[in-house]
Amino acid sequence: MCGIVGGIAQRNVVPILLEGLKRLEYRGYDSAGLAVINNFELYRKRELGKVKELEALLHADPISGTIGIAHTRWATHGKPSTANAHPHVSGNKIAVVHNGIIENYEQLKTAQLAQGHEFTSQTDTEVIVHEVFNALQGANNLLDAVKHTVRKLEGAYALGIVNADEPDVLVACRKGSPLVIGVGIGEYFIASDVAALLPVTQRFIFLQEGDVAALHLDSVEIYDALDQVANRPIIESQLSPDAVDKGNYRHYMLKEIHEQPFAIAQTLEGRFINNRLQENSFGHNASEVFDNIKAVQILACGTSYHAGLVARYWFEELARVPCQVEVASEFRYRKPVLAADTLIVTISQSGETADTLAALQEAKKLGAKYSLTICNVPESSLVRESDLVLMTRAGPEIGVASTKAFTTQLATLMLLVIAVGRRFHLTGQTEQKMTAQLFRLPGEIEKVLQLNGAIKRLSEQFAEKQHALFLGRGAHYPIAMEGALKLKEISYIHAEAYPAGELKHGPLALIDADMPVITVAPNNSLLEKLKSNMQEVSARGGQLIVFMDETLVPVAEGNIQIIKVPQVENEISPILYTIPLQLLSYHVAVLKGTDVDQPRNLAKSVTVE
Ligand code: AGP
Repeated sequence: MCGIVGGIAQRNVVPILLEGLKRLEYRGYDSAGLAVINNFELYRKRELGKVKELEALLHADPISGTIGIAHTRWATHGKPSTANAHPHVSGNKIAVVHNGIIENYEQLKTAQLAQGHEFTSQTDTEVIVHEVFNALQGANNLLDAVKHTVRKLEGAYALGIVNADEPDVLVACRKGSPLVIGVGIGEYFIASDVAALLPVTQRFIFLQEGDVAALHLDSVEIYDALDQVANRPIIESQLSPDAVDKGNYRHYMLKEIHEQPFAIAQTLEGRFINNRLQENSFGHNASEVFDNIKAVQILACGTSYHAGLVARYWFEELARVPCQVEVASEFRYRKPVLAADTLIVTISQSGETADTLAALQEAKKLGAKYSLTICNVPESSLVRESDLVLMTRAGPEIGVASTKAFTTQLATLMLLVIAVGRRFHLTGQTEQKMTAQLFRLPGEIEKVLQLNGAIKRLSEQFAEKQHALFLGRGAHYPIAMEGALKLKEISYIHAEAYPAGELKHGPLALIDADMPVITVAPNNSLLEKLKSNMQEVSARGGQLIVFMDETLVPVAEGNIQIIKVPQVENEISPILYTIPLQLLSYHVAVLKGTDVDQPRNLAKSVTVE
């Protein structure tokens, strides 16, 4: 993970770098640092903690320069500390910021120690800067030294590099980690994500795998992996600089929960004509691809994986489309057998999740002919590497806990189920029913958001709890999984989800008055089964909290609390039941005083294995 920013301009770049870092904090926030060149001298500041700590340090002891690089870190090699914070420096001249992991760093380090280099950090990154230092001894300039260095690196990297002796060039390169160049007027920038640079430009060049670029004040030269001059197009971003504003909300997460009705309306916008889903929404040759596929394999991580699990119920139940779902980090190493004509569907908010990207590449190696991604970031790697794309259009999601990205993924997956299902056993009637439900969804979510007050009161019972169980059945089991992930992620309460029928096979032993059991209980064909599972909890003195269809009567005796959820149709019900679970986690986390938007040890975009 980690976020990189850099710039070469005719003005002081420090405020630009700091603003960029704040916008990249979702990628990591355990320490931050920057380095600038001023009058052929390298100046560096680093601080443990978030970017605001670095900002305070710079306020107390300012530095300035017209060329510089900066970094916000999510620790991989070496604990969070000032010494491990980037930039890393060699010979007091060269500074490097890095996003990724250098897999052969131990081997490089052994050689460098023998050459007399002193190491001041435990990071894998430090070997890069010493390697550039070495290469500079025999190279014409920094650009050549970096080209030489990257040939020795194994693993993933996006790098920004400066040399105090060459204040007119910023060198950048990428392989396996994202990096964009921001094109200004008489100035150039680099960043891990366009969002970091939106205050200074909306024009971007997306570096390709293996590219090395040299940025000057008035020009940029790019070399591809074969060291040939490469012409990369300049792309205009549609994002506005204030798209990442918190507004009047206390946390991004709360804002993003409340944005869901609008976000889903955006997901559906322009994709139907006369209530019929247009298949060209997935790409110009989508119909042809869908005509050929015989099965679907979904690959994703975390919350996006949960979206895939819900979609499997839809694909198989509603349309009889064979569908498998797997955590991307398992798929990529499992040596799976792929059936012929399987559509590989990746789901990712960021489009940069390393495991998901690698799983897609693995599927292609295994012979997959068709790929589609469901993604929220148009310029991301997954979008670029997939044949078909359906954007979720949730808008920027800043809170590390995914909320609107998840529900828009589900809405988008329903569109995919319709498009693919038409070739299988999805009836015209079911298609119309699903379409009507999708269009009703924003309004239904508005109603569920009215439960906020009741859920906030309910959350008071959780603040002291150590553990929680979440139960669901059918397509609501992945919703229970998502509820448990949200709770543990932001409140640090240990939470697990079970398909309710599994309770008696072990977890029932955990039940006592201190174990809240959160149950998702819509009015569907599995309700009677679920009621029996709830009785099992009640009979053992467990504390039941039931999110239940408003039309139902209480289902168990004893310690039971009920939050009534507006009645909705079966197909969209998993999307609706997600919202109260998001609100529950949010309020519990606020009560516990955790960092809701940037929970400990996590990052928004997981671009390392
Ligand atoms: C969700 O709240 C998480 N932060 C996390 O599980 C996330 O969904 C996962 O890392 C996958 O990210 P992606 O959707 O960007 O690929």
